[in-house]
Amino acid sequence: VSLKPYNTFGIDANARYLVEVNSEEDLRTLLQLTEFIDNPKLILGGGSNVLLCHDFNGLVVKMNIQGIEVVRESDTHVYIKAGAGVNWHALVLFCVGKGYAGVENLSLIPGTVGAAPMQNIGAYGVELEQVFESLTAVHILTGEKQTFTHANCAFGYRESIFKRELKGQYIISSVTFQLDKEPTFHTRYGAIQETLTEMGVEEKDLSIKAISESVIRIRRTKLPDPNQIGNAGSFFKNPEIPKAQFDALKAQYPALPGYPMSDDVVKIPAGWLIEQAGWKGYRSGDAGVHTKQALVLVNYGNATGDEILLLAKKVQESVFSQFGVTISPEVNVI
Ligand code: EPU
Repeated sequence: VSLKPYNTFGIDANARYLVEVNSEEDLRTLLQLTEFIDNPKLILGGGSNVLLCHDFNGLVVKMNIQGIEVVRESDTHVYIKAGAGVNWHALVLFCVGKGYAGVENLSLIPGTVGAAPMQNIGAYGVELEQVFESLTAVHILTGEKQTFTHANCAFGYRESIFKRELKGQYIISSVTFQLDKEPTFHTRYGAIQETLTEMGVEEKDLSIKAISESVIRIRRTKLPDPNQIGNAGSFFKNPEIPKAQFDALKAQYPALPGYPMSDDVVKIPAGWLIEQAGWKGYRSGDAGVHTKQALVLVNYGNATGDEILLLAKKVQESVFSQFGVTISPEVNVI
């Protein structure tokens, strides 16, 4: 089976088997099949955070469990449970439409609800963990269904326990979100303020709908649409470096942006380093560095996973040799 339609990078790798899971019952049945038990497994949501570097000699599980429901309400919050296969942006639009606040800054992120906690998706000043209440997941070997609270997930910057200690052990089936009835607007991010002004939205007219629309605008101008150009969003994470190293680099490159994480750690934008190293808009065959956002690697059509990976390695080496900073992939390289 070709996986090309199942990964946003549009890599034409093959899988031995592919199965689509549409309900929790499907999932329970699947766990008992010999094809499942005896093969290596790859769980896919929207396929928007993977780079497939070779054919997958095993079973690909495409999570497609649908459904969005309000499960609980308090004076201040609404709790919404969504199936793992729900499209992320569809969930955001549902919440924005109902006036449930908290996910508007995460508009238009490709992928599914079930994949979102894996890497604690984040954008424009908000991370998934801020609205996360709990999730249900099924253990791959025992079939046992388990609830994970916020504390159980060990969220970090583009990190969770499901990418680390529990990697490959659970399949997430649903996620419950805690949304606010009374919105807190997250507009600190410069680009949001600029687009709101462009849109003619004044302070007094601010709404979660306006913020969602401004984020959609920003993403459409900076990030390639996977339906048009294959990509998996940011290919690298933004590195965190010691303050002393940041100060030394800043002396050499006064324009270097930096966001203090603590007294002695500073996060710097990998996109800036990659652009400075001369890679923005680079193209070799069908593998390239996006013209408007150097943190995004793109497939112009028929690049293989290995070609993208080779480009990624060259970018990493060049950034390291110029700045002495190691950048590591954010996407899962398979
Ligand atoms: N920059 C450059 N050149 C570039 C790209 C960025 O100089 O080609 C500079 C910008 O000028 C800015 C800084 O880098 O000063 C930050 O750029 P941007 O706001 O575009 O964000 P980012 O750090 O490149 C991160 C996330 C994105 C998220 C945006 C907005 C990571 C790995 N990426 O990118 O997430 O949308 O912030 O919050 O943290 C993703 O994870 O797939 C993703 C797209």
